[in-house]
Amino acid sequence: MEIPKPKDLLDFKGKTVVVTGASQGIGAGIARRFGEAGAQVIVHYRSGLDGAKSVVEKIRKSGGQALAVAAELTEQSEVEALVNNASEHFGGLDVMVNNAGIFPNARLLDMTRDEWRAMIEANMDTAFLGTQAAARYMKAAGGGAIINLASISAMNPASDHSHYNSSKAGVVMFTQSAAQELGPSGIRVNCISPGLIGRPGLEDAWPEGVARWQQSAALGKVGSPEDIGDACLFLASPAARWITGVNLVVDGGVLSSMIY
Ligand SMILES: NC(=O)c1ccc[n+]([C@@H]2O[C@H](COP(=O)([O-])OP(=O)(O)OC[C@H]3O[C@@H](n4cnc5c(N)ncnc54)[C@H](OP(=O)(O)O)[C@@H]3O)[C@@H](O)[C@H]2O)c1
Repeated sequence: MEIPKPKDLLDFKGKTVVVTGASQGIGAGIARRFGEAGAQVIVHYRSGLDGAKSVVEKIRKSGGQALAVAAELTEQSEVEALVNNASEHFGGLDVMVNNAGIFPNARLLDMTRDEWRAMIEANMDTAFLGTQAAARYMKAAGGGAIINLASISAMNPASDHSHYNSSKAGVVMFTQSAAQELGPSGIRVNCISPGLIGRPGLEDAWPEGVARWQQSAALGKVGSPEDIGDACLFLASPAARWITGVNLVVDGGVLSSMIY
């Protein structure tokens, strides 16, 4: 592989990227950053058509190419169709970002089996199905990069989130396992564990949580979707060409804070 000059490492011109759950929040930030870096972006959504359209519009305005595609990611056939869309519209698939997920709270003693299953399905099955569909395509095409979204909750459990914490710990181990199997096919698989990421209304809805976060974070603030987008650019780029199977923590230093 030819190694690009340092200034060209984050140039994604001619590369096709699928970002799941990209109509809002972190996924929208990831999609925008890939678009600004020159990629052709499939902006996946489930129900958020307006949000996905606005992300597509922003990418087009910044000079990139993008397309909004709907899929229910717990359905294997829809995930496969999503991946096919990338190759049909943009001629390939270089990067798959499995970002979609859910995080409703539930206390362990009140949690129903359906709530547990829904969490595992939305967070782990989607990572499995997205990785498998993308890797089948990438293996035939000669390689690629896959990034799964885990969470710092995979390492430090959040309260009333035993199903969420477990699902994200599963995503971390799944990522390592996939990296081991897919490396020989030229496919790198990594995950990112974000800390608390800002969203409209977060400070009003959860002022005490945001204040606690700001106190614990060495860098003193909550993150932005673009902070995660840039970590994705790095992991998907040739700058990370010898990196696979890692869990990159992007949390402003919270996991490094004192625990006593
Ligand atoms: N926000 C944080 O502070 C934070 C911290 C750590 C980790 N994370 C992780 O980062 C990822 C993104 O978080 P976020 O806060 O940006 O979430 P978000 O705003 O709720 O967006 C998640 C997206 O995933 C989609 N989605 C969920 N289940 C789906 C399914 N079965 N099929 C298709 N689409 C589905 C939703 O689509 P629709 O709305 O259209 O249904 C939604 O647009 C998640 O994996 C989350 O666990 C977030």
